[in-house]
Amino acid sequence: MKEKNIKTITVNLKGRPYPVYIEKDILRNFGTYFEKHVKTRQIAIISHPGILDLYGAQLKASLPSDAEICEILVAEGEQSKSHETLWNLYTQLLENHFERTSAIIALGGGVIGDLAGYAAATYLRGVHLVHVPTSLLAQVDSSIGGKAGINHPLGKNLIGAFKQPNFVFSDISVLATLPEAEIRCGMGEVIKYAFILDNDLFIFLEKNLEKALQGDPEILQHLVTVSARHKAQVVASDEKEADLRMILNFGHTFGHALEAESGYGILKHGEAVILGMKCALYYSHEINMLPKTDYERGMALLNRVPLKFDKSIISTDNLVKRIALDKKVSEKNVRLILIDKIGFWKINENSDIKRMYNAFNILNEV
Ligand SMILES: NC(=O)c1ccc[n+]([C@@H]2O[C@H](COP(=O)([O-])OP(=O)(O)OC[C@H]3O[C@@H](n4cnc5c(N)ncnc54)[C@H](O)[C@@H]3O)[C@@H](O)[C@H]2O)c1
Ligand SMILES: [Zn+2]
Repeated sequence: MKEKNIKTITVNLKGRPYPVYIEKDILRNFGTYFEKHVKTRQIAIISHPGILDLYGAQLKASLPSDAEICEILVAEGEQSKSHETLWNLYTQLLENHFERTSAIIALGGGVIGDLAGYAAATYLRGVHLVHVPTSLLAQVDSSIGGKAGINHPLGKNLIGAFKQPNFVFSDISVLATLPEAEIRCGMGEVIKYAFILDNDLFIFLEKNLEKALQGDPEILQHLVTVSARHKAQVVASDEKEADLRMILNFGHTFGHALEAESGYGILKHGEAVILGMKCALYYSHEINMLPKTDYERGMALLNRVPLKFDKSIISTDNLVKRIALDKKVSEKNVRLILIDKIGFWKINENSDIKRMYNAFNILNEV
């Protein structure tokens, strides 16, 4: 496949822009792009065993025949974003004499991307990094923007760095093997972009949500392309999360509280974001920011994503307390990202505890 046929989005960071390639069935062409963007023959592929089984052979076959390829496998799941797993990665890189000019390819979802990205940021003070995201969430969100890191026993994503990749390579066809629940999770982030930035995307989702959830590749390609463009634009204007990037937290302040309070693993991140967006819509409407018609359209779309969640098992008091613990909340001021219209974000400073309480309670009814 010629490069001109592949959709390319540029993440326009000052002085070091990088491309995000998006297309169906392109994994076998990966090597051509790798050679264009990375000048090394020393390559570590970091992945999960199941993902390497599915896609490793195709990826490796595309790399130059004289490349020295080292496969580093980590167990699936959020628990792999740990100090121990990271240390083990360093050990394998050192034992294989990886040098500063070498490259790490992160082949997997957000867990692999965050972990391998952090290893690439820190091993010998930094080596090349390429993201080959294989989950919808990673293609629409985590592979773009350079946030990398691991968890600490006291909280998620607390240890990390900014590490931009040389390029991102999103093959839509790999989503065919992604479990339905994981498609749903990525969809949470796609719907988020629609609410805060893109009324056209919202209309597209109203028409095509079920097809997307069933994994229709054409629909997914459109959603990945539009979402990646939004993420790239936000990141380019605010690389280090000082300002605009906070709008990506729409639904996340409520969502993080739900995720943590229900116990990580009960609710997946994307599912918690879907519920969190319901709370954010309610709050936006309650303070007369969001008109009733937009509120109802927003809720109707979110309610079409099938989710099993029993809100009654968790206490609303604890959820509100959790919000105060959220690392994105400054000391006294609870700042919420809301919308005043579908496609238009608003920042709400000094948000009201009582209203947040009521917002969580609407989940008892949906
Ligand atoms: N860096 C960022 O900006 C950023 C943004 C959002 C989320 N994240 C992080 O991303 C992580 C979540 O990412 P995720 O949702 O991709 O989870 P994940 O990486 O755990 O992947 C979900 C599951 O899908 C499987 N999988 C992935 N691709 C597959 C494929 N093509 N076929 C079959 N199975 C496949 C994985 O093995 C895993 O079991 C969290 O740790 C979160 O903190 C980071
Ligand atoms: Zn998220």
